Formats: sequence, structure tokens, C-alpha cells
Amino acid sequence: MKTQIKLPEQAVPEAYFDVRYEILRKPLGSPKGSERLGGDDEAIHCWVEDEGKVVAVGRAHLIPENADGSAFDQKAKSACPPFEPLCAGYKPMQDDSGLEIPSVGLRPAVQVRAMGTLDEYQGQGIASKVLDALEKESVTVWSAKTGWLQARVEAIPFYEANAWCCFGSEYEVPNVGPHVSMWKKF
Ligand SMILES: CC(C)(COP(=O)(O)OP(=O)(O)OC[C@H]1O[C@@H](n2cnc3c(N)ncnc32)[C@H](O)[C@@H]1OP(=O)(O)O)[C@@H](O)C(=O)NCCC(=O)NCCS
Repeated sequence: MKTQIKLPEQAVPEAYFDVRYEILRKPLGSPKGSERLGGDDEAIHCWVEDEGKVVAVGRAHLIPENADGSAFDQKAKSACPPFEPLCAGYKPMQDDSGLEIPSVGLRPAVQVRAMGTLDEYQGQGIASKVLDALEKESVTVWSAKTGWLQARVEAIPFYEANAWCCFGSEYEVPNVGPHVSMWKKF
């Protein structure tokens, strides 16, 4: 198994997007092309190859200084709400571990999106390698202090196993399903 990293503006192989489609979009009935996300060109991408075959993928992007992480995904017809601690006027709240999420020192902040491992490769620690590489590269490239993501509820145990923590209430992402926001201090 080989872990590959591509920095912003570097080319990512088609096979990377094929895996993203297969795992994250096809099961929702979304058309081909819906796996392309806004900001892919500016993101850090990581994937794991098994003898040249892409088997797991994920990406991280820098959340702009004046943004709160909310997004509308035209192709998937799906909207993501903001991360409350990144919103103007945020009053410190506790995450699910009881830790206070402060109102300062959170940025530079990155968002992790589109993590997926091919079915037959799941449960072998492969996505953990992808996530770890994305976190480390985000610190190196952007000096990221925190990470944020919107987890499908069934993926929460995976992120928790990698020291991410839930906060706030569960919400529905249209056309995808129930999600919970998670964060991690790097
Ligand atoms: C979530 C996902 C990316 C995890 O990929 P993976 O390669 O199987 O993850 P790993 O093997 O690195 O998991 C590491 C740890 O997470 C935990 N974990 C992973 N999936 C889990 C699950 N479904 N339930 C409980 N724990 C889980 C395990 O504790 C595992 O540790 P272990 O090795 O001690 O068992 C994969 O299940 C997937 O592609 N799911 C479908 C797409 C998806 O939901 N993506 C996330 C969108 S937010």
C-alpha cells in the first residue's frame, strides 16, 4: 500500500475521482460528475494505492478567513450548514467530550471532505492513513490549527477513532442524510 499526497494545484488522477464517485455519490443515485467538488483545485488530496489501484481517498481545504464553512453543492443539490465556532458572534460551547471550543485561536482552519474507502478495503486502517496525512499536510502547508468536518452519522465512530469530536446537534444534509459536525485541535 502506498499513500499519495497532492498539494494544491497539482494534478490528481481520474481514478481518485472514480473512487469518490463509487463510494460517496453513486450510492445516493447522484449522476457522474457530482463527485467533483468546488475547491478541488485548491485542496490537498490524499489517497492510498494498492499495487497502483486507488482504494481510499480524502481531501482537505483551507476555510477562508472570513468564511464559516457553509457551502452549497450545486451538482449534488446539497447544502452544508456553517460550523458554529467559526461564525461571527460565536459564544463558546462544549464539544461532546466536555471540552470548550474557544472563540479564538481556531484559524487557520481546514475542512476535511469526501473521505471514502472501497468496500473491500474497509476496516484495514486505510482511511485513517488518509486522514492522518491530510491533517499533517494541512499543518505543514497552511499552518492549520484546527480541522472541521460534517460526518455522516455512520462514519462518526471512524472519526472518533482518529481523535475527532462531535459538537452541536444532528442535522439533515439534503440528498445525503443525517450528519453531525466534528472538530479536532491539531
Ligand atoms: C468511513 C470510512 C471512510 C472508514 O474507512 P476505513 O478505511 O474502513 O477506516 P479505518 O479502517 O481506517 O478505520 C479506523 C478505525 O475507525 C473505526 N471505524 C471505522 N469504520 C467504523 C464503523 N463503520 N463503525 C465503527 N467503527 C468504525 C474503527 O475503530 C477503526 O479502528 P480499528 O482498526 O481499531 O477497527 C469508510 O467506512 C467509508 O468509506 N464509508 C462510506 C463513505 C463515508 O461514509 N465516508 C465518510 C463521509 S463523512
